[in-house]
Amino acid sequence: MIKPESIYSRHLVHPVCLLSVSDGKNENISTMSWVSAVSTEPPLISVAVSPKRYSHQLILNAQEFAILVLSNLQNELATLAGTISGQKKDKWALPQFQLLRKPPNKIKSPVLKDCRAVLECKLVQHVNSGDHSLFIGEIVHSEYDPDVQPLILFNRKYYNPGQFIADYP
Ligand SMILES: Cc1cc2nc3c(=O)[nH]c(=O)nc-3n(C[C@H](O)[C@H](O)[C@H](O)COP(=O)(O)O)c2cc1C
Repeated sequence: MIKPESIYSRHLVHPVCLLSVSDGKNENISTMSWVSAVSTEPPLISVAVSPKRYSHQLILNAQEFAILVLSNLQNELATLAGTISGQKKDKWALPQFQLLRKPPNKIKSPVLKDCRAVLECKLVQHVNSGDHSLFIGEIVHSEYDPDVQPLILFNRKYYNPGQFIADYP
């Protein structure tokens, strides 16, 4: 039986992102929603990746990764990249990803068109934490489209951002 304390992530709101990684020889794209801000200066973000994922070893080899914050229209890409492993299939070769693929700016890992934001990162820290590894990356290049709304994950369901309430103080 799963203890209630182990399903805490169902009470947290997550962005739905794809992680793209290439070590120069192999490349992969997979869905990651345990993505969080860590520092403004330097600009650092973290992503929690299970060692079971194909992406895990590729990040260690490449020492870099790109976080692609998906748009509210891209939930099918999230399900696709999040239910197939790169160990079994070349996900970047699928037409859904080929169509949107674009070259990166400062790293080797390919990035994606039409998403909310592209965050190109160099790996600065790797922490073993429970059943996931925390990869902390410094953002070395970023682009975003303010007119594109991000895709949200809450309680294992995809959402649009909610209704505006008030400005942040
Ligand atoms: C919405 C969603 C969010 C996910 N978030 C994470 C995550 O934060 N960390 C993780 O390790 N796996 C996460 N996964 C699971 C991986 O995306 C999935 O196991 C994927 O097949 C791994 O691909 P890979 O083996 O090619 O790296 C998520 C899956 C989905 C559908």
